Amino acid sequence: MKDLRPIIWDDDKKELILIDQRKLPNKLEYFICKTYEDVAYAIKDMVVRGAPAIGISGAYGLALAEIKGDNIYKAYEVLKNTRPTAVNLFWALDRCLNAYKEGKSILDEAKKIHEEDIETCKKIGMIGEKLIEDGDTILTHCNAGALATSAYGTALSVIRFAFYNGKNIRVIADETRPRLQGAKLTAFELNYEGIPVKVITDNTAGFLMQKGEVDKIIVGADRILADGTVYNKIGTYSLAVLAKYHNIPFYVAAPLSTFDLKSKEEDVIIEERDEKEVAYIDGVRIVPEGVGCYNYAFDKTPPNLITAIITEKGIVKPNKDEILKLFNK
Ligand code: MRU
Repeated sequence: MKDLRPIIWDDDKKELILIDQRKLPNKLEYFICKTYEDVAYAIKDMVVRGAPAIGISGAYGLALAEIKGDNIYKAYEVLKNTRPTAVNLFWALDRCLNAYKEGKSILDEAKKIHEEDIETCKKIGMIGEKLIEDGDTILTHCNAGALATSAYGTALSVIRFAFYNGKNIRVIADETRPRLQGAKLTAFELNYEGIPVKVITDNTAGFLMQKGEVDKIIVGADRILADGTVYNKIGTYSLAVLAKYHNIPFYVAAPLSTFDLKSKEEDVIIEERDEKEVAYIDGVRIVPEGVGCYNYAFDKTPPNLITAIITEKGIVKPNKDEILKLFNK
């Protein structure tokens, strides 16, 4: 793999270095976090984004609070209130807070979370690639790649390992309005590695499926409930409905840290972002003044639309029995 690491911990300077994903694909620049407030800003403003990546960053944010002698409980609340939907952030912050309560180093725990994620993503790729056949065209949504994790990615790890194993594959990346993670990030990282990729507008997906040009769909997830309900980037649900209609396998790739076994649907907050993200393109307003926009960042895909979920512990059907078994392995 060509080294694309979105999150780097500088142990000498005690700083968190993030690829500034707002600048990609045109500029590869870094954003330095010296305090937990810097990390909170980076998560909120999407310098760093993607469920596992914001979890790891949040963990380092709490470690920075520890290093600077800040109030850990206040830092925990500030970091927790940056983005509401992806559960990895809460999972990582809770892990670090528990370590702190046990008198352990938060920084050590953050480093562990970071290292584990690299291995986890690798396993997801190695397990999931078996589902991919030589010659497949795979459609993906948003960015569930190295940039959304520590390395490799989740959905893109499956694609990467199929490619590494010599399978002749092609990727179609939905541009993913309004933040364009597909066009800007997925296309960037696959192209960076020489994996064939083409970008489409989100509304082209159905037509390509109708033409028989999509063999499989693989997406990531921000939260998966015990019954297999998947929360992921807005537009995922539409894709899953289209996939069902066209009889195309629809896979979700995610680590166990993305599962939320406690919450019910009514507990999950779907993030609503500033409507300017929809109303403006490249700083130019495209929606008439005075007209509002919906800007839900995520949607909900029910388990009956999902073929299987690929995790680091194996591939499961989206139902409670199979999901709970994963956690007992
Ligand atoms: O708003 P974002 O860019 O943080 O949303 C990211 C996604 O929806 C990803 O698909 C998801 O986090 C999985 S990343 C491995």
